[in-house]
Amino acid sequence: MGATVDPVGAAPVDPRSTDAWARLTLLRDTFTPDLRGWFAADERRTERLSHTAGDLHVDLSRNLVTAEVLDALVALAAEVGLPGRREAMFRGEHINVTEDRAVLHTALRQPEDADLEVGGQDVVEEVHEVLRRVYAFADDVRSGVWKGVTGEAIRTVVNIGIGGSDLGPVMAYEALKPYVRDGLECRFISNIDPTDAAETLAGLDPATTLFIVSSKTFGTLETLTNARLCRSWLLDGLRAAGAVGADQAAAGSAVARHFVAVSTALDKVAEFGIDPANAFGFWDWVGGRYSVDSAIGTSLAVAIGPARFGEFLAGFRVVDEHFQNTPLERNVPVLMGLLNVWYTNFLGAQTHAVLPYAQSLHRFAAYLQQLTMESNGKSVRWDGTPVTTDTGEVFWGEPGTNGQHAFYQLIHQGTRLIPADFIAFANPAHPLVDGETDVHELLLANFFAQTKALAFGKTAEEVRAEGTAEAIVPARVFPGNRPTTSIMAPALTPSVLGQLIALYEHITFTQGVVWGIDSFDQWGVELGKQLALQIAPALGGDEQVLAAQDASTRALIRYYQEHRPR
Ligand code: F6P
Repeated sequence: MGATVDPVGAAPVDPRSTDAWARLTLLRDTFTPDLRGWFAADERRTERLSHTAGDLHVDLSRNLVTAEVLDALVALAAEVGLPGRREAMFRGEHINVTEDRAVLHTALRQPEDADLEVGGQDVVEEVHEVLRRVYAFADDVRSGVWKGVTGEAIRTVVNIGIGGSDLGPVMAYEALKPYVRDGLECRFISNIDPTDAAETLAGLDPATTLFIVSSKTFGTLETLTNARLCRSWLLDGLRAAGAVGADQAAAGSAVARHFVAVSTALDKVAEFGIDPANAFGFWDWVGGRYSVDSAIGTSLAVAIGPARFGEFLAGFRVVDEHFQNTPLERNVPVLMGLLNVWYTNFLGAQTHAVLPYAQSLHRFAAYLQQLTMESNGKSVRWDGTPVTTDTGEVFWGEPGTNGQHAFYQLIHQGTRLIPADFIAFANPAHPLVDGETDVHELLLANFFAQTKALAFGKTAEEVRAEGTAEAIVPARVFPGNRPTTSIMAPALTPSVLGQLIALYEHITFTQGVVWGIDSFDQWGVELGKQLALQIAPALGGDEQVLAAQDASTRALIRYYQEHRPR
């Protein structure tokens, strides 16, 4: 792949050294948020601060920014070299410095006729070669051409994977349920807690179940353990039903009809016993958390079919093009990333809520947690020096209206600043009515009400005017000035889902560049993995390993041993 050249090799610009940072600091020092006043003084505020990216309508007007702040934030993006680094990513330069890798998830959604040659490889051609195989496989499963070992068609696809090899597929499957073929179901096993495999497999018929083992490295403890559990479950079930014999050859042909794999490590796939003809590859330049649009999305492609999967990819592309070609001051992911910088580094926010008013997006916050926090939860910059500012916020969220009846109290009246993205769709997945009432309209009324209440609050005078006893007026005041971004789209289609994911990918990228960090490595997950392997023998009785642990770990393992009689 391509050699490292500027601006990639260059040390990151310390954002604090920029003129824009100095301007932002001055603005912050005298900053008094006043959404009521700002809206009253400027009729065009919403118009000026609303933007379009593909099908996404994004209203930034209820954020705590003035024109001066936005102007300085955009200047900051330019001063830290965001445009150059963005181009370096799209070109396939090794911006994942600590792993010396290109970062090319954007190539996964390029059309077949696009040209992208990196280090002598025709990247787009390779992407489409794999896509064609994934699509052919998906068609075969959907049409019943692909049969299990007893000759029956597949009814359940179980994706085995964790992190990026699970969160994207499960989130997208849940989001696009209305597009799933009748008679087909996907399930997902990720956790090494045996409860996950046991409960996910319960009630399934091995003869009609197909497993997709999804693992970029094919070395992940959780996934390989679960894959072996599922292989045993399959063979035990088929043997108990008399569908296959006890010999190795019978086991091999059953596994070949019921197991496929997605990985960059095709040699390890073969070692596991999966026919390499049934393996779909991808590349080290696709990060796990950026991989739902690669072959890692095979379960989704089977569920919704190749045509819809193609629309999903096209949606990503729409936002990629917006991110690449729109001037910074109208570039939605850039602006949203910069607002997050403003909240994190100038206004002291520690977290960021994502609140979809769509039950179908109930796993979206979990998906974003890996995307954003594994990417930007870093304390060193891409040249190995310490970061100079706070970095990655804690992302969290739940679908509205469930969240309203749980944690919104704190967002409305607590002492913390929690910027929140509200997401809603004009058209529902299921247009149900309650008598005369369109239930989707009740959902949307809540969406509109919450963002309004957070922005504008309710003053003591307004509370008093309702006849509230003076003693409880303070408790019923809503201070307002709680920032939100409203994102709307016509409907949650495959394309719109792709657009939303790409939006957050590029928001994450923007923040990473401002902070000077490599948003594409994840060394912070390694230590725990290593220690788990070292500690495991102590649980089974290895006294030497137990003795080597610290006092707290030793005591906890003893507790475990005492409470789990063997
Ligand atoms: O532990 C973190 C991680 O490396 C993620 O980045 C990745 O998405 C996940 O594990 C799963 O990895 P793999 O796809 O290689 O099994």
